[in-house]
Amino acid sequence: MPTLNETYVTKGSWRPNLFEGKVVFVTGGAGSICRVQTEAMVLLGANAAIVGRNKQKTDEAAKDIQSLRKGSKVVSLPDVDVRDVKQLAEAVKKTVAELGRIDFVIAGAAGNFLADFNHLSSNAFKSVVSIDLLGSYNTVKACFEELRKNKGAIIFVSATLHYYGVPFQIHVGAAKAGVDALSNALAVEFGPIGVRSNCIAPGPIEGTEGMSRLAPKGLESVKSKIPLQRLGTKQDIADATVYLFSPAAEFVTGDVLVVDGGSWQVSQGAGSQDYPVTLKKALAAPGAKL
Ligand code: HXC
Repeated sequence: MPTLNETYVTKGSWRPNLFEGKVVFVTGGAGSICRVQTEAMVLLGANAAIVGRNKQKTDEAAKDIQSLRKGSKVVSLPDVDVRDVKQLAEAVKKTVAELGRIDFVIAGAAGNFLADFNHLSSNAFKSVVSIDLLGSYNTVKACFEELRKNKGAIIFVSATLHYYGVPFQIHVGAAKAGVDALSNALAVEFGPIGVRSNCIAPGPIEGTEGMSRLAPKGLESVKSKIPLQRLGTKQDIADATVYLFSPAAEFVTGDVLVVDGGSWQVSQGAGSQDYPVTLKKALAAPGAKL
């Protein structure tokens, strides 16, 4: 089921057809965060192509998102692993063949699970860094020709957990720190050719796959510790996305837009409620193979 509906256009902050004639290419577009980003772009006039590893999930998401606006086209690109730049290049080729162009890129495909250092194998660390960081690089690599031609813009989906130390998230923190560095350097390299690069760093957003992995018991208990006293919604991420791709942000590049209600400023990441009890047990137990 889609998260947004037509009231996003009729009653929201954004004007209809804001992205008419534009095309957004989204990795992880069938997941929760990137899916709502795609929904917002499509509702506001864009066509989209979504890349995913799972065929059924990606096909269903594309169909659902396309149903949000009459006349829109949302192309499903399943069986693509962002760790493989050739698969991404093929997906870009199909997108251009079907939709004519790519203006915007959302590099959002990510992998995550909770594991302390003792239970994190070298291969597990490598898997997450490869999906999140190398996958982000590969996505831009595959889209570069289109971005250059159309003076496009990129949004990387980052996080806040590398701003401080978050237990059980060594792999993701390292990967997302790299994503921020990648975005900053691209902003500087691509600025002169009219291509912008920014990150969105979501905080605790309710109803997302990430949060169900990171806080399986739910996030109600952390609400009062969030300065704005509520959890984020997927629409908060949609709105940040629209802003960064819209002409309102045409002078914004190399930025990280943190959408977390002020959470990271109080430096108690979600999931660290019982620190260090669980962590001590995990580090004392037998670990993963090397
Ligand atoms: C320890 C684990 C593990 C766990 C997997 N591994 N899960 N180690 N604890 N819970 C290890 C495996 O044992 C293996 O290492 C290595 O990781 C690779 O796993 P594979 O299953 O072989 O395949 P791969 O396709 O590489 O796996 C990708 C994955 C997986 C990331 C590990 O979890 C995945 O595909 N997830 C689906 C996508 C996803 O996570 N979406 C959520 C995104 S939300 P060994 O040594 O045994 O070979 C998100 C939010 C981030 O990213 C922001 C936070 C605020």
